[in-house]
Amino acid sequence: MDLDRLRERLTVALGERAERLGVPGPLEELTGGWASTSVLACALAVPVPDARAHLDAHAADAPSTPAVLKLYAADRAGVEHAAREHRALDFLRGSACRVPAVLALELDPAVLGRPFLLMERAPGRSWWSAYESSDDDGERRRLVSSFVRPLVALHALDAHPLGPAATAAARGRGAADSELAGLQRDVAAFPRSGLGDVVGWLHAHRADLACERPVVQHRDYHPWNVLVDDDGEVCVLDWDWRVGDARFDVAWTCALVERSGHGAVSAAVREEYERQRGAPLHHLGTFEVLATVRWLLNVLPALGPRSQLPPGKREDFRGFLVEPLRRARELLRARTDLDAPLTT
Ligand SMILES: Nc1ncnc2c1ncn2[C@@H]1O[C@H](COP(=O)(O)OP(=O)(O)O)[C@@H](O)[C@H]1O
Ligand SMILES: [Mg+2]
Repeated sequence: MDLDRLRERLTVALGERAERLGVPGPLEELTGGWASTSVLACALAVPVPDARAHLDAHAADAPSTPAVLKLYAADRAGVEHAAREHRALDFLRGSACRVPAVLALELDPAVLGRPFLLMERAPGRSWWSAYESSDDDGERRRLVSSFVRPLVALHALDAHPLGPAATAAARGRGAADSELAGLQRDVAAFPRSGLGDVVGWLHAHRADLACERPVVQHRDYHPWNVLVDDDGEVCVLDWDWRVGDARFDVAWTCALVERSGHGAVSAAVREEYERQRGAPLHHLGTFEVLATVRWLLNVLPALGPRSQLPPGKREDFRGFLVEPLRRARELLRARTDLDAPLTT
């Protein structure tokens, strides 16, 4: 990516809005790798009269806002992703589930080459980095509590204003039927994975998945999508949301943390979620199977023969996933008694 050229195009794209938002400074990549999105940081400097005279918004005395530029894929899925993430950030602004403020949204890929969202850069570091660097039990308990709080707050909100039709459709068997239809469609590409049998198992247990109260699901709530600042304030990133059952989110988070090799943290998160919610979660094991198969069918295409990743990156990704795949297989075996070889 040519970052200087991107910065020029962003400046043009912001046009007159730069008077209010600020002029973008040098861009720095925050991610690289396997995702279809790219995330960059930059400072937005509001031109002060003096600096404007010198045509230098980034003069030392110009006030600046730390910002993040998120670029999505330049196809229809990317445009929908950008629009969906924007809707969530807008909906949750000012709620108990803190999110970065949106500064600008552009859905037309022609403007910057890809649809983009410009937002405030949340202060702090990843929740995992804060947790990992603490060796105090009390502090770790407080961190688990502040990790869980925004998720409980999200699930306490009425989903209807964000997705009225989706909320009606998810109630009862709707949410599970749509999850299972998605799995059924995607598993067809992996006939040797053994996941077809696991999807059959889920189908037989679909009564466990019935949804009494549809909520806004984050769908990728994990310790690297949650930032925590020095005051312990947390901010939730990366909204690829849907309306569905709250237990899917909890199961996704717990299965992901367990797959990363942190079974004790996963158990603490579940326990704290139930404590804050004030009620136990029923059939979470079935949701963990659902979330694990969903995750497997998201990652297997990047590993298989039709992978879109260049060969070098595919090998890196494969190496990165060896242990998580082994643990995912183990989780499925423990919950369903089925041993899926996960062959692509
Ligand atoms: N608004 C933001 N403030 C601070 N950091 C951010 C912000 N948005 C993204 N990041 C950083 O970039 C990383 C990737 O962004 P994210 O939205 O999670 O995209 P993806 O995981 O799809 O690449 C985050 O984990 C976080 O470290
Ligand atoms: Mg992320």
